[in-house]
Amino acid sequence: MASKPGAMPQHVAVIMDGNGRWAKKRLLPRSAGHRAGMDRMVALSGHAFDRGVKYLTMYALSTENLSRPEEELKGLFRLFREYFSAHAETLKKKDVTLNVIGDLSLLPADVAEIIRSGVKRTEGGTRGTLTLAIAYGGRQEIVAAANEAIRQGKEVTGEEFEKLLWTGELPPPDLLIRTGKEVRISNFLLWQAAYAELYFTNTLFPDFSDGEFDEALAAFAARDRRFGKL
Ligand code: IPE
Ligand code: IPE
Ligand code: MG
Repeated sequence: MASKPGAMPQHVAVIMDGNGRWAKKRLLPRSAGHRAGMDRMVALSGHAFDRGVKYLTMYALSTENLSRPEEELKGLFRLFREYFSAHAETLKKKDVTLNVIGDLSLLPADVAEIIRSGVKRTEGGTRGTLTLAIAYGGRQEIVAAANEAIRQGKEVTGEEFEKLLWTGELPPPDLLIRTGKEVRISNFLLWQAAYAELYFTNTLFPDFSDGEFDEALAAFAARDRRFGKL
């Protein structure tokens, strides 16, 4: 499958959707769906790096999700506290760099701090980079970059602008997967995904298996990426 040059995506981005519906189907509280989703995310990241993906970027919480009911947000923040404390060390052992994009100032201060310290602990991992998008919005990111350019007081080229985005250090995603049936982008990587191959699946994120991830890789390998050329 990966025989054709460039057939393996270097950077895969995933919109992890469907946790709530997964729980509802099982008559469980939505928080159980989020927990199952986090477990799947941790396992899937190991699998993706085993497959040779170098950058994996996962959408965990959008700016718009911050308007969900207090109860749901409390549960999500509790999970972030738990997972960032528990898994930063595991990622370090696996030589994976943890990276976060988003506006952490929108989170409770202690959650933001736990996330920052997890990122710090894994600095310099060479096996792959796991980027979590938390309190992330693509439009907000573009506005922040535009304001940064203005602050620096000079006109910028597209390449310079890209460096001012929260993803400044990352290559653009080659493959963008969305689980959970919806066929939309929901404010994710608006600039960066300009030429990403899109892959949508009905599978709810906690059920999105390593095998199905491989199916997405195979679908990617069969795509003809032209980037507007002939
Ligand atoms: C995705 O699952 C995770 C977050 C947005 C936090 P949802 O919570 O959106 O699950 P559904 O879409 O309601 O099933
Ligand atoms: C997108 O899922 C955001 C994340 C997966 C973090 P949503 O459930 O928030 O998206 P919409 O509301 O269906 O567009
Ligand atoms: Mg959803």
